[in-house]
Parts: sequence; structure tokens; C-alpha cells
Amino acid sequence: MATACKYHASPICQHCAHQEPRLNENTQLVGKACVLVPYEKSMVETYHEWMQDPELLELTGSEPLTLEEEHQMQQTWRESEDKLTFIVLDRSLPPDPEMGEAGVMGAMVGDVNVFFPQAGLVEEEGLSLYEAGEIEVMIAVSSSRRRGLAKEALGMLQDYCIEHLGTKHFVAKIKDHNGPSVALFERLGYRFMKHVEVFQELVYQLDVVQMQQGDSKLNEDGTEPA
Ligand SMILES: CC(C)(COP(=O)(O)OP(=O)(O)OC[C@H]1O[C@@H](n2cnc3c(N)ncnc32)[C@H](O)[C@@H]1OP(=O)(O)O)[C@@H](O)C(=O)NCCC(=O)NCCS
Repeated sequence: MATACKYHASPICQHCAHQEPRLNENTQLVGKACVLVPYEKSMVETYHEWMQDPELLELTGSEPLTLEEEHQMQQTWRESEDKLTFIVLDRSLPPDPEMGEAGVMGAMVGDVNVFFPQAGLVEEEGLSLYEAGEIEVMIAVSSSRRRGLAKEALGMLQDYCIEHLGTKHFVAKIKDHNGPSVALFERLGYRFMKHVEVFQELVYQLDVVQMQQGDSKLNEDGTEPA
């Protein structure tokens, strides 16, 4: 008899990534401009340096942490079953030898992650754990911005979640004064859902079925039909 899957609605689960509690322990996603690699211990110090910037803290809705707390966070993220975190490497920059094997394809410039809350992220009942995720991106190194890294990183993470975890909805929560991030998510097809004034936050959503229907109407090179 098939065992009912804890994470997906179907009794015979088509997905297997969740059988490994560390969702992306050995996963590396390679794009043209960037590579996504798991967040390693050797990367914590650089990450911690980025997060000293009050603007980055504010825009990403993060709390300042001590280096020790950052190390604990890295461990928690690696072991988490409801959060998938990747470090973004810029392929055009030389690797930092201190990053070890995980960092050989470029220099670390940011992160991209998706969090799967148990419920309540989208207005749809009965979704299983990985069907709705909150997605975030940060390109912390400003000289690596406006080169398509965030767009490519989000696209690769979305594809990974759709293919391996069966994700159907992505939600982005953006500070209402963060014009670059709004432009980025709108460019990726996210639609505005609501403004949560108390948190100064805009909520955007991408529905995978609608996105795929939209894609199927495009020409092979991604342009709109004439
Ligand atoms: C927002 C952020 C992630 C964008 O990263 P990026 O790598 O520079 O973005 P991309 O180069 O992939 O941009 C893709 C598209 O997003 C839009 N965009 C990105 N930055 C923009 C800016 N500063 N102004 C206007 N549009 C912008 C554009 O449409 C751009 O396409 P184009 O360059 O062809 O015009 C980056 O500025 C950042 O990390 N900021 C600080 C942290 C943050 O705000 N994170 C988001 C929290 S919700």
C-alpha cells in the first residue's frame, strides 16, 4: 500500500525532494550570469558583512544579527524543511579561494530564497506544504546590480520549486518604497494583490498555471506574437 505523502496532497507522491530534509544540500543551479549554490559555513562572514548595511536590512525586512547568530541562522537554514536558501554567485567575477568548492564558479554577491509557511500565504484552501512559497532576492553587491542576476536567480529558483516540489504559487512581499524590486517582480509577471499599510508592504503574486499559459502564447524566442 502506498504511504500518504506528508507534504503533497496525492497519496502517491510524484516528488521526492522532501525525502531529504535538507532540501538543496547538494543542489547547484547554473545560469548564464549567475550560479545558485547552497549557503555554506565559509560564506557566513561575507553574508554577515553585507547585513551590516541598514538599507539592506530595511529593504529585506531583516534584523541585525551578531556573527554567532548568523552562523546559527546558516545552520538552521541548511536543515530547514520549509525554507530553501541559495547564495548567488556572479559568474563574471573571480571566485574567492576561501569559499571552497561551493564557490568556484564566481564571487558571492547575494542570496535568493523561498519560504513555505504552513498556510495562509495565498487565498486558496487545502494547499500542501510546498504549493505556495514566499520568494525573496537580494543582490547585495551594488556593482553586480542591473545585470540581470536577480531576474535569472528568481527564474531558476521558481523553476526548481515547480519541478521538484510542485509549487503552484509564489508570493513576494516588497517594501512599498522599493521601486527597483517592484519593477523586478512586475517584469517577471507577478501581479499586485494588496498594500499592507501597517507593514509598508506590497504583496505580489505569481500563479504558475497562468504564467505557463502566458508563456505558451509567446513565440519560441520569448517575444509576443505579432
Ligand atoms: C531589487 C534587486 C534585487 C534587483 O537586482 P538586480 O540584479 O539589479 O536586478 P536585475 O538586473 O535582474 O533587473 C531585472 C529587471 O528588474 C527591474 N529593475 C531592477 N533594478 C531596477 C532599478 N534600480 N530601477 C528600475 N528597474 C529595476 C528592471 O526591469 C530590470 O530589467 P532591465 O535591467 O532590463 O531594465 C537589487 O537592487 C537589490 O538586491 N536591492 C536591495 C535588496 C532588495 O531590495 N531586495 C528585494 C527585497 S523584496
